[in-house]
Amino acid sequence: MAAGKGTRMRSNTPKVMHPVCGKPMLLWPIDAARSAGFERIVVVLGPADEAASIIPDDVQVAIQREARGTGDAVLCAKDAIGDAQTVLILSGDTPLVTPDFLSALSTAHTDSAAAMTLVTMQLDDPAGYGRVVRLPDGSIEKIVESKAGGDATTAELAIGETNGGIYAFDRELLFEALTQIKPHNAQSEYYLPDVLEILKAHNHPVLPFELAEPQAALGVNSQVDLAQVESIANARLIERLQIGGTRFVDPSSCWVEAGVTTGPDSVILPGTYLRGTTSIGAGCEVGPHTTLTDCEVSDKATVIQTYGVEAKIGPGATVGPFAYLRPNAEIGAGAKVGTFVEVKNSVIGDGAKVPHLSYIGDADVGDGANIGAGNITANYDGRKKHRTKIGKDVRTGVDTAFVAPVSVGDGAYTGAGSVITEDVPDGALGIARQRQSNIEDYAKRDATDD
Ligand code: UD1
Ligand code: CA
Repeated sequence: MAAGKGTRMRSNTPKVMHPVCGKPMLLWPIDAARSAGFERIVVVLGPADEAASIIPDDVQVAIQREARGTGDAVLCAKDAIGDAQTVLILSGDTPLVTPDFLSALSTAHTDSAAAMTLVTMQLDDPAGYGRVVRLPDGSIEKIVESKAGGDATTAELAIGETNGGIYAFDRELLFEALTQIKPHNAQSEYYLPDVLEILKAHNHPVLPFELAEPQAALGVNSQVDLAQVESIANARLIERLQIGGTRFVDPSSCWVEAGVTTGPDSVILPGTYLRGTTSIGAGCEVGPHTTLTDCEVSDKATVIQTYGVEAKIGPGATVGPFAYLRPNAEIGAGAKVGTFVEVKNSVIGDGAKVPHLSYIGDADVGDGANIGAGNITANYDGRKKHRTKIGKDVRTGVDTAFVAPVSVGDGAYTGAGSVITEDVPDGALGIARQRQSNIEDYAKRDATDD
């Protein structure tokens, strides 16, 4: 179920589209269901729902015309669900469900031959959740809602056992019961949990699936919930990487998104944020205070205090501290990009060095070249970008400016402070600055000369 507005988020973005560790909330339960091996996945969306754009190809969409409640949402999926005997119902706003948990729920349901198996959990703060009302014999009598006032009595609101909003049903009995629920409640909605009383009235068994650990069923209704759920998802993602052999020196200070991979013997230092499809090889050191989005870091590279976007860092390369790698920066094997260096859409060759205070944009820097401090590529003429080509083993003097398009041949040099506007041949020294003239005894000049 993923229709409905999610008004409690106070956001223009539909609730289930909010990212949790870089992946839209709705894709978490979908991916969990797929990994658990369920045959068919159906998502209930509203008409013209933004979320339609992210639904994977193997998932069917059922449209709920009006958000008239969770019971109505499930009814809208009836045809798409087909004739499976067991149906699991998940919520798009409950992203922490895992494949193992869904398999366990499904197995418990089929083993017990219940008509309905519902996930329940004890919460210290059950506000907003449906409460599980039990009879003296311990069986479940009903679920009472608490989102709007009026559905639950004060005594019922004091109950800590809540409905996790995750269920397994016998399909036929579910849809039969759904035709009988009424929107006679505080929200005038069709409440899915109301099928419980109907099934019981027809002597169909309803069983709880009690969670010792409520995490898997935490729902997101507000920004507060979102931050809580995201920190749990983050801890799980980091744990998976730790199990793979990566060391996180202070995991609680690091953030990792769902598409990130890291290799064994890599060390991630505090304050590091790995985003998108970033991959870190083996034996790397990343951080502290490094943010990498969609970057590829090869084995044994070191990336310190760096901000990188869509960059590739070669094996054994060192980057930072205080480097900014922008899209299509490719740093070669064993190369160095040092302090206060920005690289964009450029190749830094194997073993090449750009150690200090430089901007390298739209350039090809050859293998083994050494770029002096403060070198700048003047890549933009105000209309177009142009490339700078710097050959192999070039040595550039400090403060060289390259006015692109321009090229410096293999093994060539540039003089300190040069503005290079013309190509420098292989092995030559390009020098482009005014000669120095000294005014002798300038310090002794008369006051009248001032
Ligand atoms: C629901 C349960 C509550 C349970 C809680 C667990 C109901 C009536 N209540 O409450 O007992 O404790 O989940 O998290 O089911 N949706 C639709 N169409 C609608 C309404 C909702 O698709 O017309 C979807 C929403 O996008 C959401 C899910 O169903 O993903 C649950 O809806 P929500 O309004 O968040 O229900 P809760 O009030 O949290
Ligand atoms: Ca909810």
